[in-house]
Amino acid sequence: IFISHCRYALGMEDGRITDDDITASSQWYKTTGPQYARLNREEGDGAWCPAGQLEPSDVQYLQVDLGRLTFLTIVGTQGRYARSSGNEFARAYRLNYSRDGLLWKSWRNRLGNPVMEGNKNAYASVINDLHPPIVTRHIRLIPVTKLSTTVCMRVELYGCPWDDGLISYTAPEGQLMMPPGYPIASLNDSTYDGAHERRRLSGGLGQLTDGVIGLDDFLLTRQYHVWPGYDYLGWRNDSLGTQGFVEMEFVFDRQRNFTSMKVHSNNMFSRGVKIFSSVSCQFKPRLIANWEAEPVAFKTVLDDRNPSARYVTVPLHRRAAKSLRCRFYFADIWMMFSEISFQSGNGIKHDNQTFLSEQVNITTSCLFVHQRTPYSNPSASDSPDVSNTPVLIGCLVTIILLLVIIIFLILWCQYDCKVLEKVKRHNPTFNSVVARHQLFRCFYFEACGGGYAEPDITQCTPHQCFHSNAPHYAETDIVRLQGVTGSNMYAVPALTVDSLTRKDISAAEFPRQQLIFREKLGEGQFGEVHLCEAEGLPEFLGEGSPLPDRDGHSVLVAVKQLRADATSQARNDFLKEIKIMSRLNDPNIIRLLCVCVSSDPLCMVTEYMENGDLNMFLSQREIESTLTHANNIPSVSLSDLLHMSVQISSGMKYLASLNFVHRDLATRNCLLDRRLTIKIADFGMSRNLYSSDYYRIQGRAVLPIRWMAWESILLGKFTTASDVWAFGVTLWEIFTLCKEQPYSLLSDEQVIENTGEFFRNQGRQIFLYGPPLCPPSLFELMMRCWSRDIPDRPTFEGLYQALRPHVSQ
Ligand SMILES: *[C@@H]1O[C@H](CO)[C@@H](O)[C@H](O)[C@H]1NC(C)=O
Ligand SMILES: *[C@@H]1O[C@H](CO)[C@@H](O)[C@H](O)[C@H]1NC(C)=O
Repeated sequence: IFISHCRYALGMEDGRITDDDITASSQWYKTTGPQYARLNREEGDGAWCPAGQLEPSDVQYLQVDLGRLTFLTIVGTQGRYARSSGNEFARAYRLNYSRDGLLWKSWRNRLGNPVMEGNKNAYASVINDLHPPIVTRHIRLIPVTKLSTTVCMRVELYGCPWDDGLISYTAPEGQLMMPPGYPIASLNDSTYDGAHERRRLSGGLGQLTDGVIGLDDFLLTRQYHVWPGYDYLGWRNDSLGTQGFVEMEFVFDRQRNFTSMKVHSNNMFSRGVKIFSSVSCQFKPRLIANWEAEPVAFKTVLDDRNPSARYVTVPLHRRAAKSLRCRFYFADIWMMFSEISFQSGNGIKHDNQTFLSEQVNITTSCLFVHQRTPYSNPSASDSPDVSNTPVLIGCLVTIILLLVIIIFLILWCQYDCKVLEKVKRHNPTFNSVVARHQLFRCFYFEACGGGYAEPDITQCTPHQCFHSNAPHYAETDIVRLQGVTGSNMYAVPALTVDSLTRKDISAAEFPRQQLIFREKLGEGQFGEVHLCEAEGLPEFLGEGSPLPDRDGHSVLVAVKQLRADATSQARNDFLKEIKIMSRLNDPNIIRLLCVCVSSDPLCMVTEYMENGDLNMFLSQREIESTLTHANNIPSVSLSDLLHMSVQISSGMKYLASLNFVHRDLATRNCLLDRRLTIKIADFGMSRNLYSSDYYRIQGRAVLPIRWMAWESILLGKFTTASDVWAFGVTLWEIFTLCKEQPYSLLSDEQVIENTGEFFRNQGRQIFLYGPPLCPPSLFELMMRCWSRDIPDRPTFEGLYQALRPHVSQ
């Protein structure tokens, strides 16, 4: 299942779901019966309304029978509008579902919350993506209210047929991986909807059928706010007795002829994880029958070279069965699966087949684009329904690329050795420094010794190259301000930050007990960032509060908090950070709302946007087209993208006017509200979701090297001009819809080498390519942001002026 394409309306609005299939616990009048619960329709009195006032403790439901097992991905709701005579709607609702019509289960999102936000008025429809999606035939929508009120609903359901036919799997519970020196990975099946008894899962479906495949590194996850290992279900070989295998049982809706089983498995052998060495499956033709004697066995080809997670396809020789029992044998200490699917029958093709292959054709032209997309996109490697051509093309492209890289390396080496030869002749002591840092040798030499201010080359170690504040290069005296919560903050002119006291902090003191903890957003060395509900904050801030208008009196905020064990230096920095933040006031910069500094722990409270960050937002969307409209795929238009770019340039223009340097501009640090207003923030580095965007030097500094100007990497020099460079990269991200990390084909070391090429400027540097969506004039602008010489780069004012005319209105 390609979750991002399984978003077809299932027929409430257009009537494919018949009146008989829609029932309810009650109805107010005949004219507000369940058959009127159809999205965008106005028959009867315009919606389904349960009888009487809905009390907070009431359970009233609208029930839909989808007629077959369905992979449900989205629910859309609307209130009763009745050509403007109605005004009833459900502000919140939850879902129950049943695969067999008898046993009902409650849906919860990935964070365990069962209640979804509903409508805010009677006419607009509100779409909720189901994370996780539901495999079901029957579904109940249950309006939820905090006050006694009348509710009415119209509904559409979205998804696609569940052709796998799997109705439950049974497995040993997932385990904890606790290696010294790494975060604990919890490899449990956290969305499993069956029973969990005596260390076994039975009678349900969960993460192995949620359409989300895990990443190569099992510690990284595709979800926000979850724990390392979330996407995988995993077991250790010595924990299941001495048998050396994991046994799973799969039950299907009816007897099927199985052609194959695909198991998406991690293969990070450096951490003791491998795909299974072999598997043996037994078949049962009917529910009540014996397992057939002859199993199907399959040995995999183990792979010690490529650590990528992959689909392993197990042929099942068209054996007929209603249930299957498979033993997966360990090849290493750990075995981890993120998804299992079954192919059976005569390949029931559903109507969206042509649409899918069209999509695949588009995506094969950029095979490498999907590395960081949140959901399984149709790329060649994980699509079960596509012929082998894309795979072949992919292999050929890879081989050609490898050859190019090898040739490049050979040429590079020859050049490199000549340079080194020269250095050695002039300066024998340099040799030992070089030897220890093979990879970085060339640019260290040139950046430290060549051309610029001629510092003594023997004094130049890699750390100095990275970390020195390089005073003799700096245009203005910059004080480095490392955010103590782990995030790299703004740098400010030196004069403004000394001798700090409470009266310098203009933000008001908020009563700490009114901050209600919701979840942890991230943490750094000395602090943590929490998502909190701030009770009474709108009243507290009063007139002119920067908060958007809301219904409730509490709002979600991000709270940065200093840990008790923080050093006094960190404490000082934290106060500086507060002071700087409290002076920023721009519609496109995240706002400091209030602080708690009268007692420990010190806190600062900033705005939080429920729509998340721009990276997440764009990576889940496609560019608007008739296809996305027809299939309800979330989309953005080119003018939305331009509008976002203008807003970021505007916020940066403001920072630049105050001589503030951001140092970490990127889409992950731009937050987004419902009206697509962008606010530049800084929490990227504290979230492990984005850890691959940062480069760690010998465990010390953490740098976003793919966004950094050459002079920031080589000379430690951060200025507004290096922010302009990062802005160019941010634009590039926006116009690739964040489907790819910048320079995704280069390793971190190669990115740093490429930086040396930027410095040398002999035409061998690799630039980011022009995204297909991006107008040529805009790509020219990006290229100017990446000019080697600072005067050649545009200013933010110039960028803003250049971008603004592109936006219509
Ligand atoms: C899975 O593990 C996580 C992290 O340890 C825990 O918070 C969660 O409750 C577990 N879920 C289930 C269903 O066991
Ligand atoms: C588990 O894996 C380790 C390493 O491959 C191996 O030495 C050990 O014998 C295995 N244990 C079992 C019970 O298979």
